[in-house]
Amino acid sequence: MHDFRYKGKNLYCDGIRASELARRFGSPLYVYSYKTLVGHFLKLRSAFSEINPLICYSVKANSNLAILKALLAKGAGLDIVSGGELYRAIKAGCPPEKIVYASVGKTDDEIAIAISKGILFFNVESLAELANINRIAAKLRKIPRVAIRINPDIDAKTHKYVTTGKITNKFGIDLANAYRILLMRPNFSNLKICGLHIHIGSQITDSVPFISAIKRVSGFIEKLMADGIRLEYLNIGGGLGIVYDQETPQTAQIYAKKIIPLLKKTGLKIIMEPGRFIVGNAGILITKVLYIKNTPHKKFIIVDAGMNDLIRPALYSAHHKILSLVSGLKTEKADVVGPICESGDFLAKERMVAKVKEGDYLAVMGAGAYGFSMSSNYNSRLRAAEVMVNGDKISLIRKREVFEDLIRNEKV
Ligand code: LLP
Repeated sequence: MHDFRYKGKNLYCDGIRASELARRFGSPLYVYSYKTLVGHFLKLRSAFSEINPLICYSVKANSNLAILKALLAKGAGLDIVSGGELYRAIKAGCPPEKIVYASVGKTDDEIAIAISKGILFFNVESLAELANINRIAAKLRKIPRVAIRINPDIDAKTHKYVTTGKITNKFGIDLANAYRILLMRPNFSNLKICGLHIHIGSQITDSVPFISAIKRVSGFIEKLMADGIRLEYLNIGGGLGIVYDQETPQTAQIYAKKIIPLLKKTGLKIIMEPGRFIVGNAGILITKVLYIKNTPHKKFIIVDAGMNDLIRPALYSAHHKILSLVSGLKTEKADVVGPICESGDFLAKERMVAKVKEGDYLAVMGAGAYGFSMSSNYNSRLRAAEVMVNGDKISLIRKREVFEDLIRNEKV
């Protein structure tokens, strides 16, 4: 599942001892395994080889250029949601014809740049956006491709903040309106409506919601075909869940086995947008124990990584496994908390964790997706460094920030 494991008493990332990385680069520190990263991409590709989809890695999960480059070198495309992600995609060398662009709030500038770069298509989330892309395209004398993002009204049974396919969510267009829009397509003469898109949520561990969503959209495609509306692409989004601790998500193979027959029936070219599945287990966050604090009610392990480094526990009550860099320690119940001035600043609550002492290190597992990419400078904390390990090779892929970075754009 990943390449972080104990050899003897020490936790290793691939061929490198994690404690050596902490000593050399300081903490908090994101560490990625190249092998795990690329391995997950290849796992998905081989599970779906029968239909050869374009796998557009979802940049938001982890947008470091080195991560993007590693996946691009294996043939990935990219799923982006902003002008900034487009900038990164191009910088990393992604061919524009492998970029798909979603987001409910694309600005005029973002749309214009994406059109001029010649991306594969926009995933359009409203009638107003469709009209706006058409208007901008006319001005630029271009005919960009768009896919209509369908809101299939499926409950993905995941955390409510990352559920995106229910009709009460802001994403996509309901089937009745999508049908009306497709009938109106001659009004959008500067667009080529080439496909449909769905993305029902994230960290979905069961195949059932995916199957329901794909069935719903396939039925819709059949109806469109009967009306003579021909499409080229079906983008099935991302959302595949991973193991954080005790989860038992569907594997890529099972997922593929269940949905390939449905996808084949559509006759369309398939696009996928996985983020977490590819990078989630490829990263850990190493943090140093600053203080042990015993109170009448609890034991707190105060570490040097806070919610600004990894917000998932605070925001989604996410559970990340926490290991000591040295194995074999006794365990005890504690809260693992950061230095930030909020009680929501925790990495684990009432958890059995290794009996560490001040100066020891812990590893927060499964931190590769939505870890660094959601980090901030809250409390004027410097964002962490990131390193990638490939076998015995270590690369610093993002320097730790310095104090000047904090005030670089400020004016008095
Ligand atoms: N496609 C679209 C249109 C998306 O909105 C997302 C994620 C993905 C693909 C990739 O989803 P994935 O395969 O990674 O599940 N910050 C949250 C997750 C937010 C997901 C947002 N959209 C977390 O840390 O759990």
